[in-house]
Amino acid sequence: MVYGFIGTGAITAAIVTGLCDGSADAPEILISPRNPHVAADLARRFPSVRVAETNQAVIDGASVVILAVRPQDAAAVFADLTVPADRTIVSLLAGWTIARVRHLVAPATRISRAIPLPAVALREGVTPIYPADDIAEALFDGLGGVVTVADEETFAGFAAATATMAAYFTHLRAISDWLATRGVPSGDARRYVAAVFAGLTGPLRLGRSDFAQLAHEHATPGGLNERFLASLTEAGAFDSVRAGLDGIAAYLASRSR
Ligand SMILES: NC(=O)c1ccc[n+]([C@@H]2O[C@H](COP(=O)([O-])OP(=O)(O)OC[C@H]3O[C@@H](n4cnc5c(N)ncnc54)[C@H](OP(=O)(O)O)[C@@H]3O)[C@@H](O)[C@H]2O)c1
Repeated sequence: MVYGFIGTGAITAAIVTGLCDGSADAPEILISPRNPHVAADLARRFPSVRVAETNQAVIDGASVVILAVRPQDAAAVFADLTVPADRTIVSLLAGWTIARVRHLVAPATRISRAIPLPAVALREGVTPIYPADDIAEALFDGLGGVVTVADEETFAGFAAATATMAAYFTHLRAISDWLATRGVPSGDARRYVAAVFAGLTGPLRLGRSDFAQLAHEHATPGGLNERFLASLTEAGAFDSVRAGLDGIAAYLASRSR
């Protein structure tokens, strides 16, 4: 099995790192030459990675082709490429349905979609996959695991959920900015908030996902966390999260039509 990546950017670097870093039996990987700096760095770090001369050479030399260019570049990139029918395609193109990808890679028909996140570099990213495909699942299984999704609309929900990360950091920023308005030097405020939230990842990294229970454990009855949670709930902060996700899901649906 040779994995070939069309588009060597941030997410390709993360996947290749997860597959190869410290691994005694890293798979053979062909990457496209662009971005040249990212490609050269990956080939330097990992002996099983080779930089192909062209995108076509990646497709010709790989049995599994991973589409990892930016969505807006995909049509132009594939206009000149020929994909043999026997290639397995794993598309990372955000918002591109299977039907749309099929046009891009015809006559190849074995196509699945995946939403890996940068944590795959550390083998800690759970990757949604649609539809079920043992080759796509094997690719991401060792990088933190997979969630195989039954239908494409549900898969789009996972894509929407990934839109919440910048808001998470803005939440932390609001807290540290507020602390700074109380006279704490802003560097100290940021360092403190980073440490508070880094500490909270412990249970998550151990596999706990019982968020209601975790919230309960961090909200002493009558305590400050309980009061703060109640004030955000009453202000509609979590209704806004749900409404924002609905909006993102609707946006994704309109783009895929
Ligand atoms: N980053 C994520 O966390 C993430 C997660 C899930 C899915 N995705 C999806 O994965 C895809 C890549 O995202 P990314 O974050 O890795 O983007 P990125 O860092 O911008 O990487 C895209 C790469 O494609 C290269 N490229 C542009 N034109 C090309 C061409 N004609 N031939 C070959 N390569 C070309 C770019 O090279 P230049 O730098 O020279 O332009 C760049 O290295 C997107 O479709 C995105 O929706 C990303």
